[in-house]
Amino acid sequence: MTTIAVFQEARAQQAAPLHLDGPASPAPWTRYRDWNRATWDNYNTLAQRERTPKALGKPLDVATPIVGDAKKGQDLAFSRARGGGCLACHVMGPRSLEAPGNAGPDLSEIGDAGRPDDYLFNYIWDPRHLNPDSAMPPWGAHGFYSREEIIDIVAFLKTLKTPATFRNTLDDPAKRPLPVENRDALDPFVNPAADRIDTGAALFAKVGPSGKSCASCHADAKAFAGWAVRMPKWNAQAGKMMGVEEFVFRHAKATTGADHPMQGRENTDLSVFLHSLSNGRPIEVDLTSPDAKRIYEFGKVLYDAKIGQFNFSCADCHAVSKGGNKWLRGQYVGDGKGQMDHFPLWRTSRGSGEVWDIRKRLQWCNVQVRANELPPEAAEYDALELYLKSLSQGMPLTAPNIRH
Ligand code: HEC
Ligand code: HEC
Ligand code: HEC
Repeated sequence: MTTIAVFQEARAQQAAPLHLDGPASPAPWTRYRDWNRATWDNYNTLAQRERTPKALGKPLDVATPIVGDAKKGQDLAFSRARGGGCLACHVMGPRSLEAPGNAGPDLSEIGDAGRPDDYLFNYIWDPRHLNPDSAMPPWGAHGFYSREEIIDIVAFLKTLKTPATFRNTLDDPAKRPLPVENRDALDPFVNPAADRIDTGAALFAKVGPSGKSCASCHADAKAFAGWAVRMPKWNAQAGKMMGVEEFVFRHAKATTGADHPMQGRENTDLSVFLHSLSNGRPIEVDLTSPDAKRIYEFGKVLYDAKIGQFNFSCADCHAVSKGGNKWLRGQYVGDGKGQMDHFPLWRTSRGSGEVWDIRKRLQWCNVQVRANELPPEAAEYDALELYLKSLSQGMPLTAPNIRH
């Protein structure tokens, strides 16, 4: 072996210095100001999965036949207020104006389907005792609608006897064209996040409080090509699975002395830069070591865990057998495969645009179902990131990318 090879081997066996005291993100974690600021302490989070009140297990008594105000019921079903409305997932007859979704069955003829009134009432109040695996929220039991309102909604459903017709293909979820993202993500004129590759590279060369920069110890950042696509991975020193962003915080603090908390500007820029070095390389997370296997299994459990006031699991929206590859109103929800080959990314739907790492996306998908999010370095997100990456295993990375 040449001296340099011996040196490189010794270096490779050396563990990366890590600052392991305390959290890697601002603590206590507080929600972004421009997100929904409510808290949902009585419902499951990914970390506390026993909070949501149990389903009754039997139907509620309701006087039949149900007589209610069908017009009021229609207004409630179509309104986006409260839980987003029934049109988010159901086509509901000829009056289903403006882009309904199809994550649930077409209810256009539910009034002729022979469903008893108390069945309809109870399916809406809380579908869990009729269908324990229901992907529909317990609208009554979780406080979205009152008993009287659900009676009005049932009255409306009973009027539905005619298949929907649509003004155009955009309104029809069965014909609506799928969104295509084929812009040149690496062109800074197209994707403002692409500029962050340069910002991240400049940070890599910037001397920190310790008098060292990343480049002082890593003369050629290109040596890290192929590193980010293998993250998250088990870190023996920390005794946890670690993603790129947590590593950046803990390693920077221990080496250059710089303070780059997760989701801060510098952390994200370094993450963009380090990811970009692996562009074109296949996602290649370790799924075989005992620690990885254990955490992958945990990730799978979390993917199916019902959380939040909506009582949704990730699978309810993203699994192909459920809401995956279907429409939630006008938004197409992709399935798990291919969600992990393009982070961090530029989110065009966020004001004038924002760069998000994967953990921020996971937090957002928690808050959207009205579940309190966890701090970005939470073990639950480590496990979900590993599980989701396994679904994109082998797919080439393009980072930073662009998404709605
Ligand atoms: C997030 C998607 C979603 C939303 C929003 C939603 N549903 Fe559903 N709904 C479903 C799915 C999926 C099913 C099919 C079976 C299941 O998973 O429970 C369903 C089934 C039903 C059924 C049973 C249909 C049958 O054939 O027996 C009724 C009734 C129903 N929904 C009514 C409503 C009403 C009323 C609303 C609005 C208050 C609503 N749904 C909102 C997803 C949704
Ligand atoms: C004082 C020297 C030093 C500084 C400064 C330093 N590192 Fe490291 N770094 C190491 C050592 C030692 C290792 C472990 C051996 C190796 O992989 O080269 C390492 C490993 C790494 C790894 C690979 C980790 C793994 O999972 O195998 C990355 C990525 C990395 N450093 C990035 C950075 C970045 C980004 C900075 C600046 C914030 C930085 N380093 C600053 C010494 C340093
Ligand atoms: C109420 C439905 C819903 C639930 C539940 C949900 N998501 Fe999402 N998710 C969406 C929508 C809508 C998008 C944006 C459209 C898309 O990219 O699929 C999205 C996007 C994502 C993305 C980014 C996809 C990309 O290509 O950039 C990831 C990753 C993701 N979700 C993970 C999760 C995880 C993990 C969970 C469970 C903790 C979860 N989601 C729960 C609706 C949901």
